[in-house]
Amino acid sequence: MKGKSVYIETFGCQMNVADTERAVTLLRAAGYELTKQDDTADVVIFNTCSVRARAEQKVFNRIGEVRHKRCGKEPLIAVTGCVAQLKGEALFAQTPAISVVAGTRATDRLPDLIERALNGEQKLLDIDERRKGEVWDVSPVERHSPYVAFVPIIEGCNKFCSYCIVPFSRGREQSRPPQEVITEVRRLREEGFREVHLIGQNVNSYRPPPETELEGFAGATPFSRLLRAVAATGMERVKFTTSFPRDFHPDIVRAIDEFDNLCNWVHLPVQSGCDRILRAMRRGYKVADYLACVESIKSARRMIALTSDIIVGYPGETSDEFAETILLVQQCQYDGLYIFKYSERSGTPAANFPNDVSDIEKTKRFMALESVQRNIQRKVYNGYVGRKLSVLVEKGSTRHAGQLTGHSKCNKVINFTGSLDFVGETVEVCILEAKENSLYGKIIDSRVDPSSSHR
Ligand code: 5AD
Ligand code: SF4
Repeated sequence: MKGKSVYIETFGCQMNVADTERAVTLLRAAGYELTKQDDTADVVIFNTCSVRARAEQKVFNRIGEVRHKRCGKEPLIAVTGCVAQLKGEALFAQTPAISVVAGTRATDRLPDLIERALNGEQKLLDIDERRKGEVWDVSPVERHSPYVAFVPIIEGCNKFCSYCIVPFSRGREQSRPPQEVITEVRRLREEGFREVHLIGQNVNSYRPPPETELEGFAGATPFSRLLRAVAATGMERVKFTTSFPRDFHPDIVRAIDEFDNLCNWVHLPVQSGCDRILRAMRRGYKVADYLACVESIKSARRMIALTSDIIVGYPGETSDEFAETILLVQQCQYDGLYIFKYSERSGTPAANFPNDVSDIEKTKRFMALESVQRNIQRKVYNGYVGRKLSVLVEKGSTRHAGQLTGHSKCNKVINFTGSLDFVGETVEVCILEAKENSLYGKIIDSRVDPSSSHR
């Protein structure tokens, strides 16, 4: 609709970021102006996350804040994403200021829903499935970065881990045809993007219809074949996240060994280091299976950075069982770890068990694990001092003039001093100092010598 302004705010994971980029592309094509002003926009969209209770609560707080600022002139409020998908119609009753509720598979139809709502239709709900032949195009200007692009390859989840709401909010696994992925990566390369992240709840569960498989790419699984095909496009860097342990085939490591542009970073959430808890979580693997994956990752030609997610305080988790998680973390020597306190999600199987680990105990376990990881990370990060890393310079630092920041292939944040002319370039940086979550270094050459950058 011509002339109307839209403000959009995104919560949660990269899938939501990717959906927002696509929504913005479609809204702009439909004539909307995008604004960063939530206090004057005609339309305010919240793209929501429901993975934990706290994430879900955010949208309600933000709706309250925005309405409070407006003193009378109400915007049209749309809620999209996971909370929209799960709560559906109930959102209208819970928060009458909401005019549009559009689920995780309705991005394509969002401009139409907004237009109808602006024309006076009330309480529009769309939590339906994707349209056949849905358009996935994202305009390069709407990407979250001009150099790094997210490319969804698989949507949804079939795993039904007992604590997790994602299979309900994002539906069953659906893989994008490989040719579509390859075409998008090639186009991104032509547009000047230097790094792609293949994204999905479980990228290595990628399973497109057999008739869409690409010819001529070796590999033990559809995902490892896709990785090789994406690498062969010549995109400078290819990262992928998240990997699921049960579907982690060692051929992924072989593909990383074969292609220098497949980045040496794997995010492989373990969730717990105790077999009984893993079984209760319905993860489908044991600690020993997970450690076998870690071993194959650690035996790679290049050193592969390993990161993970862990939930503390799952129903019934004893302090001895938590101690097993600490032990596993010590064994894995992660480069990074996201720790979450168990949050009960209604509708999931785990919600039928008493959420019996007190919040105080969860916080204690969280802090204990955080402290173990901090020590490991200090050691891991210090190991980089004196090494050369190739860094994609993403931006100038907002806090320190003359400082640049970017990521290594092993997905570390690297800071160093240099001219803004380097933004968008890949440079070689010698690491001088390690901080808790980032590395500091000195630029040594703006031309990358691939043979020297093994991390
Ligand atoms: N409570 C706490 N953490 C959760 N996660 C998923 N569901 C829950 C929950 N109910 C965490 C998992 C997952 C990450 C994205 O969020 O660790 O890997
Ligand atoms: Fe949730 Fe498990 Fe699926 Fe991950 S694999 S999205 S934790 S159900």
